[in-house]
Amino acid sequence: MAQGFRGDVADFYHRYRRGYPPAAFDALVDVFGLTPDDVAVDLGCGTGQVTVPLAARVRAVIGVDPEPDMLAHARRAAEGAANLAWVVGTDADVPALRAVLGDGSVGVVTIGQALHWMRHDELFRTVFPLVRPGGGVAVLTNGTPLWLQDSDWSRALRGSLEQWLGTPAGNACGTDEQSQARYRESLAAAGFRVETRGVDYTDTLDLESIVGGVLSALPVDRLPADRQAFTERLRDALEPHGPFTEHVHVTVLTGRR
Ligand SMILES: C[S@@+](CC[C@H](N)C(=O)[O-])C[C@H]1O[C@@H](n2cnc3c(N)ncnc32)[C@H](O)[C@@H]1O
Repeated sequence: MAQGFRGDVADFYHRYRRGYPPAAFDALVDVFGLTPDDVAVDLGCGTGQVTVPLAARVRAVIGVDPEPDMLAHARRAAEGAANLAWVVGTDADVPALRAVLGDGSVGVVTIGQALHWMRHDELFRTVFPLVRPGGGVAVLTNGTPLWLQDSDWSRALRGSLEQWLGTPAGNACGTDEQSQARYRESLAAAGFRVETRGVDYTDTLDLESIVGGVLSALPVDRLPADRQAFTERLRDALEPHGPFTEHVHVTVLTGRR
């Protein structure tokens, strides 16, 4: 159930994973007509990348995640905001959320970079009655994994990681077109009206943020024991290919009831 987002991995996630651009939240408000009266649920909330900014746009948000270490970071990141609640749970707890909140009570259920760990067909069917008419589900992706991008530095990173891991570094985390097509079909089958919006921008990374980003994506039991040696290994592989420009494509896949 839980995917190893704990201990140092939770710390790296909090420190190095970027948030979503404001235009992604504008899209949620626009598609679902969110108002300060709405309640939202953020499933797989992690350290709060969606939860915290969303809370500024609605009445309250419930962040749900199976990993207490991720929730602890999220709670600290939200310090000062009184309209967030944090719940240890998974997509399997949506029926319980329906019982607590009542059907038709939620403006949006967001899932940021987490749907690939959930049973999405069942989830979308269960969420449908929970959301109010005009509300719905939003599946967000936050760019392509650092080691799967179409750039020289990303290919060098992939090569170095694969050598170190001894396996292909292939997990696209639901950002690939095949997964997105599956999610669209599944949303439509559950009765939602489906739309995809994108937000694109360019960022320049430094070596520290690339190393931190990689460490935030490893299962906790695969973290390198010698972090210094790992950093040096990546530096040797990457530096000839700098500057590390990243074209970030954020997708906001929505299913409206
Ligand atoms: C990659 S992080 C995403 C965090 C944040 N939502 C974001 O957009 O950056 C994925 C999160 O999903 C959580 N997760 C894994 N399996 C889950 C499940 N079945 N239900 C809910 N959350 C789950 C993990 O614990 C982790 O915190």
